[in-house]
Amino acid sequence: MDELIMLPGPTAIPPEGLEAQSRQMIGHREEAFSKLLVRVTENLKKVFFTENDLLIFPASGTGGLEIAIVNSFSPGDKVLSVTNGVFGQRFREIAKAYGVNVIELDFPWGEPCDYDKIENFLGKYQDIKAVLFTHNETSTGVQNDLQRMGEIIKEHDALLIVDAVSSLGGLPLYTDKWGVDMVITSSQKALMTPPGLALVAVSPQAWRQIEQSTLPKFYWDLLKAKKYYEESRQTPYTPAVSLLYALDQALKLILKEGIENVFKRHRVLTRALRRGMEKLGIKPFVPWEIASYTVSSFYQPEGIDFKDFKDHLVKKYKLHFAGGQGRLKDKIFRIGHMGYVNQEMILKTVESIGSTLEDFNFKADKVSALAETEKIISEELSRNEL
Ligand SMILES: Cc1ncc(COP(=O)(O)O)c(C=O)c1O
Repeated sequence: MDELIMLPGPTAIPPEGLEAQSRQMIGHREEAFSKLLVRVTENLKKVFFTENDLLIFPASGTGGLEIAIVNSFSPGDKVLSVTNGVFGQRFREIAKAYGVNVIELDFPWGEPCDYDKIENFLGKYQDIKAVLFTHNETSTGVQNDLQRMGEIIKEHDALLIVDAVSSLGGLPLYTDKWGVDMVITSSQKALMTPPGLALVAVSPQAWRQIEQSTLPKFYWDLLKAKKYYEESRQTPYTPAVSLLYALDQALKLILKEGIENVFKRHRVLTRALRRGMEKLGIKPFVPWEIASYTVSSFYQPEGIDFKDFKDHLVKKYKLHFAGGQGRLKDKIFRIGHMGYVNQEMILKTVESIGSTLEDFNFKADKVSALAETEKIISEELSRNEL
């Protein structure tokens, strides 16, 4: 039996991507590479729903966040950092590490942001240069309301800079329509590619601010990357060629399925997984109204040592998932279901968790859990509407 990768990242890679990344190298100053880079960039723009510039760097998601910070600001610039989990905090820490003047607005982990409060803050501090926002808080499984955030920012001069690491390609994110100035994501989540690529979309308004930025940068210089792309369809330094091969394949798969169908698949599979787990007696950590469609969080089962539970699932059922992070470490666990994920994987996950509960002598109605899970998937995925 294959390993069942249900991590919140890195996620499973489709066979096409696995095959592609083992291909022979090409020269990155040759035409074949430029063609690949242009194709990947143009297809990414479709998935980002943007006509803005899109640049690709060799880095993980955190590197992408650092790219956004060092290019957008100068020391002492004021930014509003909105957080409700680990990754919002990380984005903020990067800004602080570079001497940006961060105004902190925190909401409880596992709860939605209070958008009226965000609006009030923006009204109160007129000189805010940008809002740092996390679209999908992977640490809690909360999907933040980026569309609403986009509406709020329209009334202000500030940029909207968004960590979309665990959302882009899985959750609806309409960059241009929603007025997002910078969207940062990475390859290893819903984009079904191994870790190692950071992708950054930049609006014209963001470029204007980037041109003023004096924070130190060399490898992460967005203006330099833009110049290389525009003038020669190349990257300034040696690109991660194999990852681009794999991403090229992944994007083809996404566009073939249709991006709106991809969103629907994520939403339906999430609902089905949550229902199945509830039937097993495992409670979701957040309500459906704010639930992420790429990672689901659940309370750790009571009466079982969580480490034993997790180790058992890995060893006996080859199911790989994640525990809680930060202050939620001993409280929740997280199942990733983004990118290369299908009905069988969700059913297998529910079945393996049900069997594990039984192995630990807990009652678990595996049969009805599986029936409910399957019912939601077959009814909702076959419906015509998106
Ligand atoms: C929302 C979010 N932001 C940032 C990161 C950091 O990305 P990386 O681990 O690729 O540096 C992650 C990783 O899980 C994430 O989920």
